[in-house]
Amino acid sequence: AYSDIGLVGLAVMGENLALNIERQGFSVAVFNRTGEKTTRFLAGRARGKALAAAYSLPELTGLLRRPRKIMLMVKAGRPVDEIIGQLLPHLEAGDILLDCGNSHFEDTRRRNARLAQAGVLFLGVGVSGGEEGALNGPSIMIGGNEEAYRELAGLFNRIAARAAGTPCAFYFGPDGAGHYVKMIHNGIEYADMQLIAESYHLLKAAVGLEAEEMAEVFRTWNEGELESFLIEITAEILARPDEESGRPLVEMIRDQAEQKGTGKWTCQSALELGVPAPTITEAVYARGLSALKAERVEAARAFPGPNPRYAGDKEKFLAALRDALYAAKICSYAQGFALLRAAGQAYGWELDLSRAALVWRSGCIIRAGFLDRIAEAYGKSPGLVNLMLDPFFRERLNRAQAGWRRVVASAKELGIATPALSSSLDYFDGYRTADLPANLIQAQRDYFGAHMFERTDRPGKFHVVWQDEVQGAGNN
Ligand code: 6PG
Repeated sequence: AYSDIGLVGLAVMGENLALNIERQGFSVAVFNRTGEKTTRFLAGRARGKALAAAYSLPELTGLLRRPRKIMLMVKAGRPVDEIIGQLLPHLEAGDILLDCGNSHFEDTRRRNARLAQAGVLFLGVGVSGGEEGALNGPSIMIGGNEEAYRELAGLFNRIAARAAGTPCAFYFGPDGAGHYVKMIHNGIEYADMQLIAESYHLLKAAVGLEAEEMAEVFRTWNEGELESFLIEITAEILARPDEESGRPLVEMIRDQAEQKGTGKWTCQSALELGVPAPTITEAVYARGLSALKAERVEAARAFPGPNPRYAGDKEKFLAALRDALYAAKICSYAQGFALLRAAGQAYGWELDLSRAALVWRSGCIIRAGFLDRIAEAYGKSPGLVNLMLDPFFRERLNRAQAGWRRVVASAKELGIATPALSSSLDYFDGYRTADLPANLIQAQRDYFGAHMFERTDRPGKFHVVWQDEVQGAGNN
């Protein structure tokens, strides 16, 4: 009998997704570049299940029911193009190809155009939730050919995580829409992680808490408005002792963060679209700075800063830090959603922002209680220009403001770097300032480059000869 779907790439995510799909009642044919992996999988975790092995791509396509559906779970970048190139001669018009890796949305747009010429229907699918999610229910962000989506909607809905009974699998629009939404998920993931890391740093260096006490703080936070997967695992991480040294394991881990590029792509897109996303960008920079370990060790000797210990009331500081973390988190989501909005317009996707919040409610890394609120905000007003202006978040920001300012001001005084907490506050303050000093920038631009400026009292573009004292003003 033919298999329902093919899957290429048996790294952990691929294996787990194959097992998830099979468990939902679909038969799967699998292929991996190195055949031993396939044999091992079939004899191991896949034993006795409706999984068939293929040892070449023609064999794989031969095992599939028409129209064929093939899921690619290979490393983003060149490998995806290579596999598509090798598969194409064995596909026919109407077959469906799904790229489920963390591909760049521009690559997805390009591949979509190329495959459309061959009549192959292409889907660019963002899958979040790590190994566990792939196996037991990921969050699925789908983009590409809508007919192909309809063909596979049933499968997506079955294998996805659920939030309040609704599958976290949504179609977002043509070509790169799904991968774009996944990219923004990852940008927000970077910001969330950095904000939590800065909070941990303040708890440790400023408040002087031990790991187990910090775990308790995060556990408590996880019971309130900050409730989220990342806060939850942070509490667990802080509570874990190292078996060798007996010390908290987290303290034994080198402080150099790595990255695979999706956060960077989010910042690049922000610059490209002209959408400010400082919290996300600072989170990427912070990983870059952390990687400069040897330089930092050297600089630590060169620049002894102030005493980092906070002298004031600890309980008050903890409450203020919780507010700061929550407010800054709202800012980073506001930036992510502003990007979705701008990209939807720029690429013609008509992205539904409330769906983006819904798709992230379960299964993915940034799953959090407050995504329900975001979904509500965009559900009520799809044209909302910035999440911060939604009545619910407006009230929260107003309430959290004072504590947030105290935390950032203290961090500056104590010499503790808080790039994401601080830049969020600057984003907030800049956004709520009716009169920014950009008038001076315009004047400077006009001074040195005759770049023209607009006036506040009448329409038009104006230029002034700034250096000529005699002729002075008014030359337009
Ligand atoms: C997910 C994650 C995942 C990502 C890792 C690592 O949604 O499951 O976003 O796709 O690859 O989190 O990313 P970095 O190596 O860049 O930290």
